Amino acid sequence: MPDANLLDHPLVAHHLSSLRDVSTSPAEFRCLVRRLAVLLAYQATKDLELEAVTVQTPVDQAAGKRIRQRVGLSPILRAGLGMVDPILDLIPEAEVWHLGLYRNEETAQPVEYYSKLELGRPVDVCFVLDPMLATGGSAIVAIEALKKWGVKSIRMLSIIASKEGIAAVQRAAPDVAIHVCAIDDVLNAKKFIVPGLGDAGDRTFNTLPH
Ligand code: PRP
Repeated sequence: MPDANLLDHPLVAHHLSSLRDVSTSPAEFRCLVRRLAVLLAYQATKDLELEAVTVQTPVDQAAGKRIRQRVGLSPILRAGLGMVDPILDLIPEAEVWHLGLYRNEETAQPVEYYSKLELGRPVDVCFVLDPMLATGGSAIVAIEALKKWGVKSIRMLSIIASKEGIAAVQRAAPDVAIHVCAIDDVLNAKKFIVPGLGDAGDRTFNTLPH
């Protein structure tokens, strides 16, 4: 069994079932992705580093804590975009570093088409966002790009992952923690996760072929 951080929670199970449902509309699909992204982020951020601060309340001074690290979010276009805003609501100071990748439909190999990571200092910790981890090819390319940029701490957040995809990412990047809401058994001949949820990008952006 692949070793990923599986988010085992009634709310996840509830919303995930609706997310998988073929009759779920794109509008509802986007809401469900947002809810699940928040739950995933809650788990994946539990060891963020804090620093002590003192704040003045209306009554007295209070000892508090603030996140010490520069946090990055790297959504893999397109489907990862749906996970950005809900996590930015949790970490408003996070930087968003988009990565454009699509899978070649014939070969299922990832093709890069957008990255600006070479500009500036790397973030301290980066969360790669993509609802789907199928073969793991896209995640591996994204992680490699972030490592090349110099990011020391990388976590992968996916709503549904295949066993094969998790294993591939772990082989390529054993230091990257993977957080998922579900682990599905297999990929089909077209390298789609089974049972999965179909194409998350198309379902998010209402671009399913007619
Ligand atoms: C899907 C998905 C992942 C990738 C997963 O994107 O959102 O990015 O495929 O597959 P892998 O693990 O085998 O690499 P897709 O290529 O369909 O692009 P899209 O988000 O623009 O629809």
